[in-house]
Amino acid sequence: MNYLYLEEIDSTNKYAKENINNLSDMTVVYTSKQTEGRGRFSRSWNFLGKDNIYASIVLKPSDKMKDVYSNLTQLLCLVLAQTFEECGIVPKIKWPNDIRINKKKISGILAESVISAGGNLEGLILGFGVNLNTQKEKLAEISQSATSLNIETGKYTDMEVFLKKVLSKFCLLYNRFIEEGFLLIREDYKRRAEFLNEEISVKVFDKTYTGIAKDVTENGALKLIDKNNQEHIFLIGDIL
Ligand code: BTN
Repeated sequence: MNYLYLEEIDSTNKYAKENINNLSDMTVVYTSKQTEGRGRFSRSWNFLGKDNIYASIVLKPSDKMKDVYSNLTQLLCLVLAQTFEECGIVPKIKWPNDIRINKKKISGILAESVISAGGNLEGLILGFGVNLNTQKEKLAEISQSATSLNIETGKYTDMEVFLKKVLSKFCLLYNRFIEEGFLLIREDYKRRAEFLNEEISVKVFDKTYTGIAKDVTENGALKLIDKNNQEHIFLIGDIL
């Protein structure tokens, strides 16, 4: 893994996208101060002070587009969850790749791909934000309910130590994951998944579907059964 630290940047994902040609495979761009962080579905990711993780992994797989690339956020999500567990807390995965503790979000992932004018995959960017050391007052400023590791454990966590733990776990599994796909982690992921066998609503673009979350399939998709007993398989979406 190569590390590129930037003291301040608008968005590590944006930086990685704009500089994709100068960044090698397996580079992590990270910063202490991200001023215009971006989240999924055009949301923003607030800056909650330094000592939190604002990072983007740049990957340049040699193969062209493969379905498994879209599951890489779930691999990253799982290793983040395992790293939280090592800190003594019990995280839950909110499909596809949010981590929450007692229903409060502690980390989120935004994947982006860079495609050349000729249609080739230039690189994948896995951006992730983790609330490691944030005061309650700061969290109260953001609308969605959130928490941070220091609030949950009462301890300070060094940002770089946590980051390196996550990335070493990610690297260990990466090659096998590309070969074997989501199946490699399915059981570990499902064990931590929130909402299985509960009623949920999933928003996909402008449509909302309600039903019982039945499974996370071997492709990492969410399976929902609605009240008419109809099955829905979601590859993307947001659990409301
Ligand atoms: C989400 O939960 O909506 C995803 C949030 C992803 C935030 C991270 S912080 C580092 C990287 N750079 C960005 O602009 N966003 C991601």
